[in-house]
Amino acid sequence: MAGNTFGTLFKLTTFGESHGKAIGGVLDGCPSGIILDMEAIQNDLDRRKPGQSAIVTQRKEPDNVVFYSGIFEGRTTGTPIGFAIYNTNQKSKDYSHIKDSYRPSHADYVYDKKYGFRDYRGGGRSSARETASRVVAGAIAKQFLNEISIQAYVSQVGSLRLEKPYSELDLKLTESNAVRCPDPETAANMESYIKEIRKEGDTVGGIISCVIKNVPVGLGEPVFDKLHADLGKAMLSINAVKGFEYGSGFEGVKMKGSVHNDQYKADGSTITNNSGGVQGGISNGMDIYFNVAFKPVATVIQSYETIDKDGNMVKAQGKGRHDPCVVPRAVPIVEAMAALVLADFTLLNRTIKL
Ligand SMILES: Cc1cc2nc3c(=O)[nH]c(=O)nc-3n(C[C@H](O)[C@H](O)[C@H](O)COP(=O)(O)O)c2cc1C
Repeated sequence: MAGNTFGTLFKLTTFGESHGKAIGGVLDGCPSGIILDMEAIQNDLDRRKPGQSAIVTQRKEPDNVVFYSGIFEGRTTGTPIGFAIYNTNQKSKDYSHIKDSYRPSHADYVYDKKYGFRDYRGGGRSSARETASRVVAGAIAKQFLNEISIQAYVSQVGSLRLEKPYSELDLKLTESNAVRCPDPETAANMESYIKEIRKEGDTVGGIISCVIKNVPVGLGEPVFDKLHADLGKAMLSINAVKGFEYGSGFEGVKMKGSVHNDQYKADGSTITNNSGGVQGGISNGMDIYFNVAFKPVATVIQSYETIDKDGNMVKAQGKGRHDPCVVPRAVPIVEAMAALVLADFTLLNRTIKL
């Protein structure tokens, strides 16, 4: 299986399956001497972990990370940082029904066709459990980035949409509710809606918005490795993601160029920020902001029709512990992937300047 590594200089490789012994990673290229706040790393893992509220999967796992290398006396040594998170609450028998048949819109069919043999327990490597390793590496990247702040929040669940832009929100309120929506009223509506969906045994999608502040001018490479292109790849690599837009995004097509253009001020900043903080693939010093769309995930606790390994139509029943809506748990994953991209581009930028 190729493609388990992300990044050029600040580089994460992840390993492990949902119902194996552990998941984990090796983070290579992290500069030496960074004093690590271990609580901040665990805090991000806690924001992603299952069982944290009534609107997420009830798999109960502490998701404690164990570091094996690359850290000495609380500081990074510049050598590979190896870490693991042990799997402690697998219920593999919940997945025997997908051993020989495929969940519609999950990865079972393509894994079987591509590899010929798959660890079906809990979805194996296609399970979003893998993203816990990204969160560990992303929490380290955030500490390396230091001044740059990355904040994600839920801005839509189903058709319940938070209309206000991030500049009119108090993002400190994001963690004040289980949905991770910074507007308490909208959050309460979203939470009730997710509970209804869970009762029906169904799932619903949503959007995570993310804003990155204090980015210096100059991050991003101008041709294939544009900053927004790598952010797009990072976000689209997260399980269940269906869309990425930055700056004015798809709405921008409705505007005329004369209105869409961001007028400069004397200091090089701009009055508007339709560019979303990136021009020509390079950060321009304004806030970077983007939206990530997540689908309603595949596992519905309902009966459904599908095919088995031999191509027979079969009836199946969704079982196990699943997320009715993944966006509340995906907020720290979006932040982590953004941090990995920015850390990588920060290091790449250093290679062109003496
Ligand atoms: C935080 C998180 C939790 C998820 N939980 C579930 C789940 O409980 N059930 C499910 O079917 N898919 C879940 N998914 C999505 C699957 O991992 C994903 O749909 C699957 O790997 C197929 O990939 P694709 O949807 O990107 O094509 C979750 C995704 C995320 C980001």
